Parts: sequence; C-alpha cells; structure tokens
Amino acid sequence: MKIIKILLTAMMAISLTAHAAPDVKIGLVLPFSGVFTSLGNDTENGFRLGIEKFANGTNVKIIKADSEGNPAIGLSKTKKIVFQDKVDVMSGIVSSAVLGAVRDTLHNSKTPMVVANAGNIHATGKDCSPYIVRVSFSNAQITRPMGDWMAKQGIKTAYVMAPDYAAGHQMINAFREEFEKGGGKVIGEVYPPLQGVTDYSSYLAVAKASEAESMFVFFPGSAAINFVKQYHDFGIAKDVPLYAAGFLTSPSYVQVQGKAADGIISSLHYLLDLPYEENTKFKQAYESRYNKPASEFSVAGYDAARLVMEAWNKADGDKEAFVKNLSNTSFKGPRSKLSIDPKTHNVVQNIYILKNRWDGEQIVQELIETYEDRKDAANGCQL
Ligand code: PHB
Repeated sequence: MKIIKILLTAMMAISLTAHAAPDVKIGLVLPFSGVFTSLGNDTENGFRLGIEKFANGTNVKIIKADSEGNPAIGLSKTKKIVFQDKVDVMSGIVSSAVLGAVRDTLHNSKTPMVVANAGNIHATGKDCSPYIVRVSFSNAQITRPMGDWMAKQGIKTAYVMAPDYAAGHQMINAFREEFEKGGGKVIGEVYPPLQGVTDYSSYLAVAKASEAESMFVFFPGSAAINFVKQYHDFGIAKDVPLYAAGFLTSPSYVQVQGKAADGIISSLHYLLDLPYEENTKFKQAYESRYNKPASEFSVAGYDAARLVMEAWNKADGDKEAFVKNLSNTSFKGPRSKLSIDPKTHNVVQNIYILKNRWDGEQIVQELIETYEDRKDAANGCQL
C-alpha cells in the first residue's frame, strides 16, 4: 500500500513537471545611475510587477545590469548578459544611444529583445530586426502629434531645444516635419549636452532673443527637472509658452517640478488619469507596492513583462515560436489598446496631448486630445 502511494506521488510529480511552463532567464539592462536613474528604477519596478502578474506559474530569473545610460557601458553589459549569462530574452534599455550600440549584438546573436523605453527610430526602421520588438514608443511617434497639434492652434513659430544625442535629434526632427507641414516654422534650435548640464540659462536667453512664439523641447530625467525649474525662474512663460515631448513632465518627477510645470502642454503615450479599468488596477497595485505614482516608464516596463511572459508561455519551450509570438500580439493595458506592427515591430498605440495644471496643491495632467492608433511608417524596415 505504502509503495503504491509513493509511486503515485512520484508519477504525479513527474506529470506536473512535464506540464509546467519552462523556466525563463531574462536580462534587464537599465540605467541605475546618471541622468536616466529614475527612468531605470521605474522601468524595473513596472517590469517586476508585470512578471508577478503574467508569469502564470513560470519560474522567472531576472539578471539586471546598469548601463549608466552610456552606449559603451550598455554594450559591454549586454554582451556579458547575452554571451556569459546566456539569457533567453532581454528587456529594458532607456537611451536611444544605448539601443543603437547594442542592436548588432542582439541581432547577430539572435537574442530576442523587448525594448521597454528607448525610442530610437532606426531600431524599428532601417536597422530593424526579427529579434527586436518595441512596446514603449518611437521618438517620432511621440512628437509628430505635438507638431500637428501646435500648427492647428495657429502657432506660427517655434524655438526648439533637446539634448545632443540620437533621441534629442529624432524627437525634434519629427516635430519639425509635422509643425512645418501644418504651416509653422522652426526659427531656431540648440542641442545642449545630455549629461552634466545643470544650468540652462544661457540657452533660455537665446531662445527668448529669437522672439519665437513658442518653445518645443525634449528633456529626460534629471535634465527635465532642472530645465522646467529654470524655465520657470527665467520668467519667460508668458512670452514663450512651453510645449514638449511629455517625458519633460513625467508623473515620475512632475510633482518635484511642482508649480513650475503649470501650463506646459505635451504629448505622450500615457497619462495617469486614463479612464480604463486596466489603468486603475495597475496604478493602485503600483502605488501600494512602491509608494509612488506610476509613470510612462513603469507602464512600459509592465507591458514589456506582459509581452515576454505571454509569448513565452504560449511557445511551450519552442524558441522560434517565442520570437514569432513577440511580434504577433495585441492587448489592452493601462494605456489602452496596443499592438505590435508586424512590418516594423514598433508598437501601435494612442498618443495623448495633455496639459499640466497647478491646482493649488499639486500638478494635475489633463487630457486635451487623443491621436488614435499611431503607427510609424516602415522607414526602410523590411521584415
Ligand atoms: C531615449 O533615449 O530614447 C529616451 C530617453 C528618455 C526618455 C525618452 C526617450 O524619456
């Protein structure tokens, strides 16, 4: 009797193991130091929350590394994770410059990558890869609607400013294209260094002297906090109202900017008050876990984890099926419906125009307009 019981228990254990989804090893390369630190932390938080929600019994091992937002360091950390740790899939990457640097390593080693922030247009354009999928945004996807919207408000001239690296130039170029298509004109531009600038007053002085009717900027992370405070202190808001790629006033740090962010209008793929059930649940879970509000970075981390886990669990151990599943998906998440475009592997999603308003105690972000289902052109990508 006892032997039969032992045999039965053993058989049950075997059959359970046979049906359990296989383990997955995930490499997470993010900036945990430098100008992008808060972005890296938010992305990791969202990613871990997503793994908890969508792992569905699969055993997940995360190996993380600090890119410092630096292309050379990001590349060497990625190589270690790909060739030494031999991960099944990678995620993370905040900086467009880091994504540019790691693209060939991922592609040549056939390592699947779900990009959770970096908007480098080439990664889903001329340098696209069957192994690279982006669930966050492309730089052009974010700023085109703002160019269109501003032109439609009758704004005729803009001075533009962004950090001097891939994302800065790509965001400005796409903005300029749409703004000028709508009848506006960019009449001046400047690209300060990404790291190490704490004083923007000389740049602001030139912007004011240009007599542009408006200013359009992209600044991320700690640069965004400094820029917004100094723009406010400079006292030019009445003469040169500020428009931006919405990362400038991310919920991750807009309350630190406080009153200085009042009146800034921007475009982004997420805002905290989106009225969807998925968003309400996500925000509550995030806030109660991490004691701070969710952000566009934590949402993209969460959605990246969802994409990885759903594709992995559906593939049942077949690596080729896993790669195919990554680009063959659509779901409704905190930022509403999204899908991956099979032609580019960039996300197709709504872009929101929002206004920051100081309500006497804090900044609230109000939805002004939705640009629905924004899909990038193939831009040289042939998948
Ligand atoms: C990028 O480098 O692609 C990037 C970085 C930070 C952002 C947005 C885009 O907030």
